[in-house]
Amino acid sequence: MNETKPASMSAFWMPFTNNRDFKAQPRLLVSAEGMYYKDVDGNAILDGTAGLWCVPCGHAQPRIVAAVSEMVGQLDFAPTFQMGHPAAFDLAEQLMEYTGHKFGHVFYTNSGSEAVDTALKIAIAYHKARGEGSRTRLIGRERGYHGVGFGGLSVGGIGANRKHFGPLLPGADHLPHTHDLLKNAFSRGEPDFGVELADELETLVALHDASNIAAVIIEPVSGSTGVLVPPKGYLKRLREICDKHGILLIFDEVITGFGRLTTPFAADYFGVEPDMMTTAKGITNGTVPMGAVFSKRFIHDAFMDAPAGIELFHGYTYSGHPLACAASLATLAVFKEQAILEHAKSMQPYWEDAVHALRGLPHVIDIRTVGLVAGIELEPIPGKPGARAYAASKKAFADGVLIRTTGDIVALSPPLVLEKKHVDELFGKLADVLKNLD
Ligand SMILES: Cc1ncc(COP(=O)(O)O)c(C=O)c1O
Repeated sequence: MNETKPASMSAFWMPFTNNRDFKAQPRLLVSAEGMYYKDVDGNAILDGTAGLWCVPCGHAQPRIVAAVSEMVGQLDFAPTFQMGHPAAFDLAEQLMEYTGHKFGHVFYTNSGSEAVDTALKIAIAYHKARGEGSRTRLIGRERGYHGVGFGGLSVGGIGANRKHFGPLLPGADHLPHTHDLLKNAFSRGEPDFGVELADELETLVALHDASNIAAVIIEPVSGSTGVLVPPKGYLKRLREICDKHGILLIFDEVITGFGRLTTPFAADYFGVEPDMMTTAKGITNGTVPMGAVFSKRFIHDAFMDAPAGIELFHGYTYSGHPLACAASLATLAVFKEQAILEHAKSMQPYWEDAVHALRGLPHVIDIRTVGLVAGIELEPIPGKPGARAYAASKKAFADGVLIRTTGDIVALSPPLVLEKKHVDELFGKLADVLKNLD
């Protein structure tokens, strides 16, 4: 027996996991390098999901590992409340440079959920600071995922995540989702149909009045609900309606930030600028937990007009943790030195063709792609939603590839450093899995 297997798996209450099923048939990862994990039995597992959309530069990236190792010996922890350390400031400047200086300020958190709750709070407090304290309503979207805090859950639109947790925040509303299999199946990039769904924001404005609405938050590409790419023109129209009514637009870029669509952010890919962006995951190459809210200058500056004192009563003990800052600084350096975005761009057509080549395999009812992302939707087994895709993910793991499934959708998002041979391995094995699925 392998000595690294845990003696007992009982105590760890696993997140977003079928605990009983997993513990009966565990899938344990013990090391990672480049494009591969190694499981507890020594098998190489090709990472088709960058962990959980986290690892654009590949696993155990030497420069990032060295930066974190060095920092832990130098400054293990330092508070950022009324105190600071240089790496937190240096990183903030470099992150703003990475956005092309489209944003002026960054507020650190430790996760995507915290970034979302932070952005929602900033939106409400921003309006209050300008004397528009009635603007408190928050608008998300059906099928949206914004993490698991009460704020993110309230604007989120995935029923299973919401239904067990009571009434959530008052004053949250939702736009319709944009998924339309009848009109848009097998799209490459932005689907053709659905721009008019953005006009539903006008309906919500008519219902609540703009003077009561603080912000709209959406994922530019919804990930956790199964890769929903915005219809052509949709984000631009949403931006226009927000501008017309003085509503802040927040893009939740927790998965789309840091190169997933081959551009720094999805905002760059779609050419639409939000007022705030929430990020996490790739910001440190997944190495150390970190999230961040990127804010336009005008939002930050509205707080700085207040009487002297703490301007925003919000923050986390670990906001700007030295290890996370070191990991993120090294990640940005790797993006530059190894031309990660350029490589991702060069791989995109090969990726897209390989995904769409799965069309026609058993159970495949849609394939959608954008950047280095793919969603492959399977016909559900009648009466057993999600079971077919879950079975696919278990078979794939047994065959040596890590895929992610949500409902009956396979969502793929590999490290951006993948090469053609990895694309071939991933889709070769996935095709076999699909051909042999009940
Ligand atoms: C769009 C989006 N927002 C927020 C989150 C939550 O991030 P975290 O799990 O780091 O709290 C996620 C996680 O996948 C996400 O995809």
